[in-house]
Amino acid sequence: MDDKCGVSELDGEHRELLTLHNDLVHALLGRASLDLERAFLDTVHHSAALHFRTEGRLIRRTAYARAGEHLADHRRFLAGVLRLRAQATDGPSLCDAALMLRCWLVEHFQEDRDLLDWLRRQARDCL
Ligand SMILES: [Fe+2]
Ligand SMILES: [Fe+2]
Repeated sequence: MDDKCGVSELDGEHRELLTLHNDLVHALLGRASLDLERAFLDTVHHSAALHFRTEGRLIRRTAYARAGEHLADHRRFLAGVLRLRAQATDGPSLCDAALMLRCWLVEHFQEDRDLLDWLRRQARDCL
């Protein structure tokens, strides 16, 4: 049923975002350069934007009641990643970026719980 309602797709994209975060942490341990940090943040922004597009499509298709609030959270996430990229400097900013991303991802997964429950209910009602 999760395939039908889009939950499997969202779970897979969530795993990709976590993998990106882990890559960022590994880069941190390997003393990544400023260029690499910016490239990472570009990749995170791109992947998150694609993921939010998937969610937006499912939100609109199912007329999710908290759509406005949820989509605003997505915009804040993307704006935050762009801000981190603009503020990136050599040295400790990579550590700050990794910590911020971790917090935002955890928040995002929590915010998605209601949406994922809603999508599962929609699929069940359509069977
Ligand atoms: Fe999500
Ligand atoms: Fe979301």
